Amino acid sequence: MFEDELDPDPVVQFGAWFHEAGTDAVCLVTASKEGVPAGRMVLLKGHDDRGFAFYSNFDSAKGRDLAENPRAALVFHWLPDRQVRVSGSVDRIDDNESNAYWRNRPRASQLSAWASRQSEVIDSRATLERRVEELDQQFPGDVPQPPFWGGYRLAPETIEFWHHRDDRLHDRLRYRREGGGWVRERLAP
Ligand SMILES: Cc1cc2nc3c(=O)[nH]c(=O)nc-3n(C[C@H](O)[C@H](O)[C@H](O)COP(=O)(O)O)c2cc1C
Repeated sequence: MFEDELDPDPVVQFGAWFHEAGTDAVCLVTASKEGVPAGRMVLLKGHDDRGFAFYSNFDSAKGRDLAENPRAALVFHWLPDRQVRVSGSVDRIDDNESNAYWRNRPRASQLSAWASRQSEVIDSRATLERRVEELDQQFPGDVPQPPFWGGYRLAPETIEFWHHRDDRLHDRLRYRREGGGWVRERLAP
């Protein structure tokens, strides 16, 4: 992977690799204000000049981390030979945009989002399923968006493209924000 093979705009370059990857799963890494890290997979639900979008429960462990320390990292691994790392600050996505995504979700997913106090200890699966049945009765028509659920957007400050080489002299090209633009640097593998 040489410098002239990558787009000068890392968001455009990300789009090309993401399109080829065929999967939208990504590891999201957050940290508490004490600096305790936590990683978990989420689904990437959009990417553009504003950043990288994902959806979750605001009261979950990740939601609590992001409320007290709104910085995060994303790690994509795409077989056979690519990795992308992104870091930056995270904001909530505005209600209109979150709601447009919510309305496109299947009813079962919507009821599950209501039923799950994500990351809390629960006594059994049966309790969750009972809760879904109750909610199904409570919302016979459209299921409203829960106030504790919505989108986040990570605004990138660095985006690194990594490409495997058999001799382990892998390629790493990192873009970092400087002024209004991006500076691209090669990192040792
Ligand atoms: C492939 C995959 C995709 C996932 N996508 C999401 C997602 O988009 N949003 C979400 O809240 N959890 C998603 N999860 C579940 C999370 O990994 C995690 O279990 C959950 O969000 C609770 O994390 P937390 O306790 O750190 O907040 C996904 C899990 C997997 C394996």
